[in-house]
Amino acid sequence: CGIVGYIGHRDAYPVIIKGLQRLEYRGYDSAGVTLFDGENIHLAKTKGKVEDLKYKAETSIPTKGKLGLGHTRWATHGVPNDVNSHPHYSNSGDLVIIHNGIIENYGSIKQALIKRGYTFESDTDTEVLINLIEEVKKKEGVKLGHAVQIALNQVVGAYAIAVFDKNKPDEIVVAKLGSPLAIGIGENEYFIASDASPFIEFTNNAVYLEDEEMAIVRIGKEIKLRKIKDDSIAYPNILELQLNLEEIEKGGYDHFMLKEIYEQPKAIQDTYRGRLLADKGIVKMSGIDQNLEKFLNANRIIIVACGTSWHAGLVAEYIFEDMARIPVEVEYASEFRYRNPVITEKDVLIAISQSGETADTLAAIKLAKEKGAFVFGVCNVVGSSIARETHAGAYTHAGPEIGVASTKAFTTQITVLTLIALKLAQEKGTLSQSKYHEYLAELEAVPTKVEKALLSNALVEEISETYKDSSNCLYLGRGYNFPVALEGALKLKEISYIHAEGYPAAEMKHGPIALIDEHMPVVVIATKKGHYEKVVSNIQEIKSRKGRIIAIVTEGDKAVKELADHVIEVPETSEGLSPLLTTIPLQLLSYHIAVMRGCNVDQPRNLAKSVTVE
Ligand code: G6P
Repeated sequence: CGIVGYIGHRDAYPVIIKGLQRLEYRGYDSAGVTLFDGENIHLAKTKGKVEDLKYKAETSIPTKGKLGLGHTRWATHGVPNDVNSHPHYSNSGDLVIIHNGIIENYGSIKQALIKRGYTFESDTDTEVLINLIEEVKKKEGVKLGHAVQIALNQVVGAYAIAVFDKNKPDEIVVAKLGSPLAIGIGENEYFIASDASPFIEFTNNAVYLEDEEMAIVRIGKEIKLRKIKDDSIAYPNILELQLNLEEIEKGGYDHFMLKEIYEQPKAIQDTYRGRLLADKGIVKMSGIDQNLEKFLNANRIIIVACGTSWHAGLVAEYIFEDMARIPVEVEYASEFRYRNPVITEKDVLIAISQSGETADTLAAIKLAKEKGAFVFGVCNVVGSSIARETHAGAYTHAGPEIGVASTKAFTTQITVLTLIALKLAQEKGTLSQSKYHEYLAELEAVPTKVEKALLSNALVEEISETYKDSSNCLYLGRGYNFPVALEGALKLKEISYIHAEGYPAAEMKHGPIALIDEHMPVVVIATKKGHYEKVVSNIQEIKSRKGRIIAIVTEGDKAVKELADHVIEVPETSEGLSPLLTTIPLQLLSYHIAVMRGCNVDQPRNLAKSVTVE
């Protein structure tokens, strides 16, 4: 979910609506806004997108007031409908809350409150929390901030909340545990949001709350931070933000996803800038340099991640083992954290996360830290929870990724992980000097080659037309390109709702081959350096069963051209870097098919970009 709040001298409504639109990547099944007009509070909420909320608010409530809270939801407790949307009010109608997260023990608290006469309109855990706050406030006779603190000490779960009392409309109380919360500090005004994008045009100064911290923002007063547990004072670390507005707008593209696909040459360059010094034969990465011994003495590297980041982890497994000869295990963070894994002090854990907020990944990190492992983060969002929770890390510097389906985050994660592997390989002497230098030069050339790969766009669009009505699709690849096949299938599923599966090409004969007939499109990655002959045999197996073949090949390929229904060329590069190129046409394929099917590419149904609940 995404939350936005405003208190100050401007009209809160436009700030909140625009802010919610920027946060829609975090969830978009329902939305709501509450405004205080100086006397009363007005509430509008609805199932659907922020655009629906805008219509509802503007036709049903006065959109005036200098204080307000807004929310865009990704449902956990209770189906997405008007009633379950946030904000929620307390029974007295005085207190208002927005919440991102889950209150796990809401059931028992709800029962206790019902016994004391409280009633509930919605099925949400959030409505329970605001009534608990009200109950504490009444019973203990304390101020709002104190009541929030006492209540939060009784709940188990994760939250980023903002609360105000209509009888004391000069302050908003916020608190965080597990879900992100940023406070923008303007002149005589405060902004509250899940990330800084809602307030970037108003102020560059922001405070990111740490876990278990709360703050009271009050007009005309400096921000006050406290620890929720023991009420001790915490000192705000006011950061100057680097984000600019252009980066979070579509800039002429129809969709964020397409913009982000096209940003990849630059994003990859930004990722290696200052780190890859190919002419000097050096890879410089401070997070690795300062912890080199940890990596060199590691028994193994464990990579944890979710979704697309997990696929980047799989590519990294091939890269690390091949180049640096370090054993690697890659796990879904959600599985790792609950299966009592063997972790020792000699393990290095790498957590990969675009958002740096994924709850399962964060929990896996905490577990590994408890067991003494050294934890390294690969994140895109600067200052995110995972970036802060890890011992060291390397940012991908891809710039904000807004499209829910991840594109440039994937290729830049692979870039960072390749740099790390090359650095370790050089330290360990596991790559020949000629290979090492070849990799550095090739990596430097990747952005130009990605640009060339993007030239396939028109052809991919044409191919998409042929397959847009398919109900299934198979993706095959071997070696480094097996994870690319998984990622290609995930992209198609996510945004076009076509069922797709990725498979190692050779495994096809152990199952998926049964699915192949003349209606089954099969996307095969068949680049020159990756077990080419073997993949060609696999293509023949598909062809003899009448499957339709879309092959991703190296420029100038002849053999596959004769067999496949369609070929899409990408430039030649070292095998270990080929995922950075073969991924590109697969991203475009899923994009065009989704557009042709009339799907909402940037905000596919049921998904969210940043999953801060487990
Ligand atoms: C969600 C997103 C995916 C993303 C995954 C992991 O499922 O929709 O695109 O790959 O979370 O997110 P992270 O921010 O940790 O990379």
